[in-house]
Amino acid sequence: MKKPQTGQPMDRVDGRLKVTGGAKYFADHQPADMQFAALVCSTISCGAIASISTTKALRAPGVADVVSHLNAPPVPGYKKTNPGDKNGLQIFRDNRIYSNGQPVAIVVANTMERAVYAASLVEVQYNQETHYTNMEAGMDKAFQNNRMKDYSRGEINAWQKAPVTHSAQYTIPLEVHNPMELAGIIAHWTSPDTLTLYAKTQGVKSVQETIQELFEIPEQNITVHSRFVGGAFGMALRVWPLEIATILAAKKIRKPVKLVITREQMFTLVGYRPNSSQKISMGATADGKLTGITHEAVAITSPYEDFTEGIVAMTKFMYDCPNVNTRYQLVPLNMSTPIWMRGPGEATGSFALESAIDELSYKLKIDPLQLRILNHADTDPERNLPFSSKYLKEAYQIGAEKIGWSSRNPAPRSMQENGMLVGYGMSSGTFGAYRGKATVSAILKSDGTLTLQSAAADIGPGTATAMVQIAADVTGISPDKITFMLGESTFPYAPEQGGSATVSTVGSAVSDVCHALLKELANLAISQVPAFKQTTPELIIYEDGQLITADRQTKITHEALLQQQKLPEVKVTATSQGGEERKKYSMYSFSVHFAKVHVHPATGVVRIQHIVSVADAGAIVNTKTARSQMIGGVVGGIGMALTEEAILDHRFGRFVNNNYADYHVPVNADTPPTDVYFVNKKDPYINPMGSKGLGEIALIGFAAAVSNAVFHATGIRVRDLPITPDKLL
Ligand code: MOS
Repeated sequence: MKKPQTGQPMDRVDGRLKVTGGAKYFADHQPADMQFAALVCSTISCGAIASISTTKALRAPGVADVVSHLNAPPVPGYKKTNPGDKNGLQIFRDNRIYSNGQPVAIVVANTMERAVYAASLVEVQYNQETHYTNMEAGMDKAFQNNRMKDYSRGEINAWQKAPVTHSAQYTIPLEVHNPMELAGIIAHWTSPDTLTLYAKTQGVKSVQETIQELFEIPEQNITVHSRFVGGAFGMALRVWPLEIATILAAKKIRKPVKLVITREQMFTLVGYRPNSSQKISMGATADGKLTGITHEAVAITSPYEDFTEGIVAMTKFMYDCPNVNTRYQLVPLNMSTPIWMRGPGEATGSFALESAIDELSYKLKIDPLQLRILNHADTDPERNLPFSSKYLKEAYQIGAEKIGWSSRNPAPRSMQENGMLVGYGMSSGTFGAYRGKATVSAILKSDGTLTLQSAAADIGPGTATAMVQIAADVTGISPDKITFMLGESTFPYAPEQGGSATVSTVGSAVSDVCHALLKELANLAISQVPAFKQTTPELIIYEDGQLITADRQTKITHEALLQQQKLPEVKVTATSQGGEERKKYSMYSFSVHFAKVHVHPATGVVRIQHIVSVADAGAIVNTKTARSQMIGGVVGGIGMALTEEAILDHRFGRFVNNNYADYHVPVNADTPPTDVYFVNKKDPYINPMGSKGLGEIALIGFAAAVSNAVFHATGIRVRDLPITPDKLL
């Protein structure tokens, strides 16, 4: 038996293309006669456009057109809805302004500089109305929609009766997607009902579907290319108004149009992690058994859409607790619509839950890790089902050992090193281990190479590499002869890359299609090659691109088999989807984060010294890309814990730190040595690889580990992120 490819730290198959500039991102494409666009965005936060004067802009050099609600081509799909429906911002449908930065016009010119300049010449008059951008001030408008019903098991507010209780409010500021690659699109109508898009997206098929609905043209007339994506983490899980604006401009001028938005516009046009306020109340017996948890969350949304996420999800099943109730409400503000941002709601919820558990542990005088183990949920208390696999206790143990948890003095503000206060903190995270439906086609050529195609995406985690490893293991074909192609809407269906589900979803289809391919090859050999006549597909050995009889006496290579039959290629397609097991088991990934921090006693500056993150994500398909994925989550988590906060000036409803200089994402200097460990045990039920998702749990829980460590170092509990120095003085 050969060493399997899965589980190895294989280098990225597209790594060379990425580091040599060979990878083409959406904005690198150059259709002939391409024009450039720039957006004109609202400077008010609520009201209506009174007039738009485009005379000066249209007279500027190279300008092709200025498109707004006054002259935009109609979007047929808009008529299915009424303007008041919560269907998102219907760009250029009318003159309403819902938020600051809302696009009011798109200017097209023959260079980017000319488009940007001409956009500055468009004069917009507004009728301004009172705007609301402050969640605290808008609490009276909080509401629930039917996706966010109250949850309870056992008794409501049972925590109040417990001998030891803790209740506190935790707040998270608005955080903005800031990948290096800016959002945008290239749109090209090659005929009045045929559209080609070069997009930055987490799902080419869902873009195709959205465009089909809005423009009412046949699916096969919409081609979406998105092979490389320069970071997304949720912001590219939908089509945004900026993309529709570009498509409309391209339709009007009948030329390809490219839009790349500015860093400043990233704050208002591609969603954000909504700011939230969460009240967690919990009660326990004196010996640390949880008796009740109440979790009430409020987060913001836009006036025209109800954005919901899993903010109270983790609380329902993370701990073995008989009485749990949750409530989740939205406050609509004059803001654009939020979107998932790595970990999404669970990352938000885990900050509150895992901080509260830590606070309770000090009241109980029980070690916070011990308190978690005491209340470990062996089965899912929300769904009353066994977990398909759960190695959280192993993860706790690995992490505690690697960070040196046992050597910490449990008393707050009791440890020092070189004049710095020292703190150790930990937390846990969890996220659904999803598996959706995907189709993959496999083409084996007579030169022995295998090409797999699926309309999957890769926003950076190394999707194609993992798929090659899975295919190599099933087929016995060497990885250097396998190519996995993604990011094309013409390929068979795959869902968006989101929710940590790609390896599970697309990998299962890769596994299935490879098995189908082997069967096809076996049947060819059995019917055509004398030595194989007496065998069955199950008895054949598949190794090194060959079919081998069970007695190992006869071998035939894939090349020889196809050439003998004069077949240029063999093509098979398979569709895969999680089945009945998903109804019988609760499927989740788990993570544990440990942090050691230094806090400067005079300035309150927090420096993270060491991080240990441990994941129970099933069998790890690629230990190198998985480790990178975990480190990426940690870096995002450092930002969430210590630096990231988009600040609004409520007088104008406008962001004041909408740039890389003032909105602080962690840099290398903020990122300490990070040790990543995997429990690396197969989940027996989820998919053929036994792998659960990884992307979200890398971040979920992390911020609480830091805040718990800061409390241990200083005795100061910070419940509103980020933990900036002023909060520790
Ligand atoms: Mo992820 S937040 O599902 O891109």
